[in-house]
This record gives sequence, C-alpha cells and structure tokens, in this order.
Amino acid sequence: MSNFKEQLKLARATVDQNLEKWLPLPDNLSARVVEAMRYATIGGGKAFRAFLILTTAKIFDLPEQSAVNIATAMEMVHAYSLIHDDLPAMDNDTMRRGKPTTHIQFDEATAILAGDALLTNAFEVLADEATHPDGNVRAQLVKMLAHLAGKDGMVGGQMIDLIGEKQTLNLEQIEMLQDKKTGALLMFASTASAVAAHATEGQLNALKTYAKCIGLMFQITDDILDVVGDSATVGKTLGKDKIETKSTFVSVLGLENARKKAEDLGTEADQALAILGDNAAPLKEAAHFILERNY
Ligand code: IPE
Ligand code: IPE
Ligand code: MG
Ligand code: MG
Ligand code: MG
Repeated sequence: MSNFKEQLKLARATVDQNLEKWLPLPDNLSARVVEAMRYATIGGGKAFRAFLILTTAKIFDLPEQSAVNIATAMEMVHAYSLIHDDLPAMDNDTMRRGKPTTHIQFDEATAILAGDALLTNAFEVLADEATHPDGNVRAQLVKMLAHLAGKDGMVGGQMIDLIGEKQTLNLEQIEMLQDKKTGALLMFASTASAVAAHATEGQLNALKTYAKCIGLMFQITDDILDVVGDSATVGKTLGKDKIETKSTFVSVLGLENARKKAEDLGTEADQALAILGDNAAPLKEAAHFILERNY
C-alpha cells in the first residue's frame, strides 16, 4: 500500500479512537441513535478531511490534541452530510462505504436523527476546552464550520445539486454548486488547523487557494468515479448521477475534459503551496491522490 494510503488509515484510526470517546453507547432508550451515529462514522470512509487537518496541524505545530478534536468534528459533520445525502428524499442510495446506508441499516427516522446529532455534537467537540485553550479560537472554529456547513456552504450546495436534477446548469453554476457542496467542507479541512495555530495571512491565503482547487477536484473525481468506477472498490452504487439526471462537470464537459480540468486544478493547487515550502509536501500528495483515486 502506498505511504499516502497508510497515512489516511492512520488518520482514520486516530479519529476513530476519539469517536469512541465522544460516542459511547449509552445504557438507555436513546442508544439506538448513538448506534446509528457510530455506524456512520467509526471505521468507515477514507478520512481524507481528517488527514488534511492532522497534516496541516503538523505543518503549523498545532498540538495533536487540538488537531484530533478538530478532525473528529470535521468527520462527524461529513458523515452527517452523507447520511442525509443518501436519504430517499435526496439521492436515495442504499450502499455507502461498502455497507448498507444508515437509513437502510436502521430506518429513515433514525438516520435523520443520527445526522442531526452528528452535526450538533460536532460543535460540542469543537467548543470543548481540549480543542484549544483560547476560547476565542474555539469560537472562531465554530463560526467557520457553521458557515461552511450551512446555507452558504455544504447545505447551500446540496440545494443547488437538487435543483440541478430538474434543470440543466451551465458550467459556472456547476462550479458554484461543487464549490459549496464539497468545496466548503474541504475549505474547513484545509484551513482549520492553520487558523487554530495562528498562521500568517499569507499562509492562510495559500491554503485557501489550495482548498478551492482540491474542493473542485474532489467532486470532479467523485463524478468521474460515478461513471467509470468499480462499485465494490468505491463502496457506493454507481451510475446514479445519470439516473437522477444530476448536473455535474462530467454531464457538461464530458469525461475527458472533466479529467483535464481536474489535472489543471491539481497544478494550480501545487503552485499555491509554494510559499509553505517543503513542509507542504504531504498536501501536494493529497492533491495527487485526488487525481489518481479509485475510491
Ligand atoms: C463523498 O466523500 C462525498 C463527496 C463530497 C464527494 P468521500 O469520498 O470523502 O467519502 P468517504 O468519507 O471516503 O466515505
Ligand atoms: C454529496 O455529493 C456531497 C455531500 C455534500 C454529501 P454526492 O451525492 O455526489 O456524494 P456521493 O457520491 O453520494 O458520495
Ligand atoms: Mg448528492
Ligand atoms: Mg450522493
Ligand atoms: Mg457522487
């Protein structure tokens, strides 16, 4: 296995250990929702966003304990977005991370509640004293994630995504859709540790440009995998975007040009990192991974 994939596994294991701490199974009647939360988070998924947070933390000397809590909150919000994305009212998917989606494994109401609780409890993790000794920094992180996950970020993007099933979007609109739906959470993943470590404005701007590029790249490759991927490897039912008549980069540009666009963005992402020097090498690898990924 490539070193990068091992790093992802390490990020997964690190966050899983912390999720065990934050999501213990209670001995009462609400246990079912916690079971669903654990089902949707622990042990599943690439932990790509967690990797970005843990790696950026190392670049900026942010203590590990802070980084782990930020990464845990991030993966909780990401998992919530997937649970709700898979619901019958949205993408109506039955397979995620190689196993039945949460509403199939449990039921729709439990899946909705598990998503709600993952979103809500993520902010409890961010606001925890262990996340950062400075309350102002904790508030800044809470504000950032709330902004990027809500109407101006992921949720806003999901709204446009659904509208894009009913009407054909142009390239500019699709770019805005992908930037919000997937880019916003990757923006948090790329910049949160640097913000918590008081990086300079120049460093933050470099990371923001990087995040813009990898956000779009990540969704372009997701859309490409939906057409050409292997379902067992990707862990999802594929071919769904066409069935649901989604507007994607692939539907507008075609496979080859979508790939080309992702490659160009990869070059731009690399260039943006120049001012961070050699320390940023793992972030370059992350951008490269997105281009090459088959899951
Ligand atoms: C899937 O994200 C949803 C998108 C934003 C494209 P990932 O591909 O990171 O999903 P997991 O976490 O590895 O399952
Ligand atoms: C969803 O995009 C991104 C989210 C904000 C959850 P997709 O609907 O393409 O993600 P997959 O393919 O189901 O993982
Ligand atoms: Mg979707
Ligand atoms: Mg989906
Ligand atoms: Mg998809």
